[in-house]
Amino acid sequence: MGRALLTSIVVFLLLAGERSAAEEKKQISVNVENRAVAADINIHYTGRYCLECHVKQPTVGGDPLLQYNGDFKSLCRCHGNMQDTYHHPTDILPPQINSIKIPTEFPLWKGKIDCITCHDVARQCRVNEFKEVFLRGAPYPRPTAFCYQCHDQQAYARFDPHQQIDASGVIVESKCLYCHEEKPDVQHAKFKDLKLLADLEILCRRCHFITGNHSGNFNHMTKPSPKGLARLKRMRKKFKIILPLTIEGKMTCVTCHNPHQKGVIPEERPSAKGADSHYRHRLPERICIECHEM
Ligand code: HEC
Ligand code: HEC
Ligand code: HEC
Ligand code: HEC
Ligand code: HEC
Ligand code: HEC
Ligand code: HEC
Repeated sequence: MGRALLTSIVVFLLLAGERSAAEEKKQISVNVENRAVAADINIHYTGRYCLECHVKQPTVGGDPLLQYNGDFKSLCRCHGNMQDTYHHPTDILPPQINSIKIPTEFPLWKGKIDCITCHDVARQCRVNEFKEVFLRGAPYPRPTAFCYQCHDQQAYARFDPHQQIDASGVIVESKCLYCHEEKPDVQHAKFKDLKLLADLEILCRRCHFITGNHSGNFNHMTKPSPKGLARLKRMRKKFKIILPLTIEGKMTCVTCHNPHQKGVIPEERPSAKGADSHYRHRLPERICIECHEM
């Protein structure tokens, strides 16, 4: 069979909706030769597309016979290792430190922490599972409860980078260095003077797993329209706040959230607004309403 015909069979099968068992078999054998699945198909929880990830059907408890020699960078290529999807270090050996212990229920892959350590992908091989089993051991009462399966809660809390002033009221410089290459001048430094350690969004994604739609039913990490930009401009002036955008002009975490503790940046400066407010919003209570002129 020619390539073009194979492709059209795949497309036809993908479009066909309800499929018979025979068609299902054909689909799999077609996939062996031409493993191109349309990018918008979610291959998880379908009970199909086995050969996207397996060389051949594995047996339970045996070698999963994964494609790409079990390299998750390739297996999970749809999720990239891009800055908008990066959420945790992977492909690392378990560190020999007291503040991290990997429970036995969290399997390593080739001795390392990898995607399947946290994501129970084997359960996604089947149909009719709920998204809640997506994380190992889920559901958890709070998102952080999952993190504390490995991270020591107390040690982790001490690293809260938003706690930036000690009990005697002095700025803790080491906290600034979580995000800044050097402690900025709190009186004068402006956005353009900053030397941040990483891309604006990665700075936050190291600890906060924000996925999909965030802030209402819309993924706000986008470039505002001219109208949207005009609204931001109006807000900055009216409320004397900052709403910084990325170099590419996109909205990002610190557009809406103030990462600093109250008292670090002098109160009269626009960048001080919203420090320690509920959700750390730059304009507490009214941020959605004002941005959308509702
Ligand atoms: C998105 C990739 C992906 C798809 C699609 C997929 N699998 Fe898997 N499967 C995996 C990974 C990764 C593992 C290894 C998980 C582990 O070791 O925890 C696995 C493990 C398994 C295992 C071993 C489970 C165990 O408990 O020992 C079986 C059996 C299996 N898959 C069958 C299937 C079948 C059948 C399909 C199609 C209906 C399928 N898989 C589709 C990625 C996938
Ligand atoms: C230390 C644990 C951990 C590791 C390792 C890990 N993840 Fe995640 N992942 C999470 C958590 C926590 C979430 C957020 C779950 C939620 O929001 O309910 C998540 C979310 C996701 C999502 C969902 C995104 C969305 O839009 O809903 C995908 C896809 C994902 N991870 C893929 C991967 C891949 C691929 C790897 C390996 C390169 C990986 N993860 C490694 C913990 C982990
Ligand atoms: C399976 C165990 C495990 C789970 C669950 C886990 N972590 Fe980790 N985490 C690790 C390991 C191992 C490291 C690497 C530590 C090192 O090498 O010093 C790490 C490192 C980190 C780092 C520092 C690395 C960086 O990118 O800056 C952060 C931040 C972090 N984890 C946050 C989280 C959060 C937030 C959660 C929960 C959503 C979580 N972790 C869940 C094992 C885990
Ligand atoms: C969690 C990351 C993070 C930490 C920790 C952090 N900052 Fe920042 N800081 C940022 C980001 C991102 C910006 C740019 C957006 C903004 O101005 O809020 C910034 C901006 C600033 C600015 C410029 C404000 C302006 O007017 O534009 C100053 C001054 C500053 N930080 C001082 C500090 C000091 C002092 C500390 C330590 C006590 C600190 N920061 C800790 C992330 C952080
Ligand atoms: C080293 C880890 C770490 C980094 C990096 C980090 N945060 Fe946090 N963040 C925390 C912790 C810990 C808390 C307190 C969490 C809690 O009580 O659940 C928190 C709380 C918050 C909250 C309030 C959540 C609520 O429920 O009220 C917001 C908003 C927030 N962070 C935004 C940011 C932004 C924006 C950045 C990037 C500039 C950032 N964080 C970087 C660890 C981090
Ligand atoms: C910093 C300003 C800002 C904040 C805060 C904000 N939005 Fe948005 N929102 C935007 C921009 C900009 C767009 C893209 C449309 C545009 O450029 O005009 C958008 C788009 C949307 C959309 C898609 C439909 C549309 O209007 O294009 C929805 C829905 C939405 N936002 C809801 C919310 C909700 C709900 C909240 C509060 C939880 C919120 N937004 C907070 C600026 C904001
Ligand atoms: C357009 C404004 C906007 C942007 C951009 C934005 N947020 Fe939020 N964020 C909100 C609003 C509004 C809430 C309050 C809860 C809600 O309505 O979803 C919130 C809630 C939160 C919370 C507390 C609740 C939770 O979901 O855990 C954290 C943490 C947080 N945001 C972090 C981030 C990070 C990290 C980014 C960047 C990746 C980000 N936010 C980008 C508006 C925004």
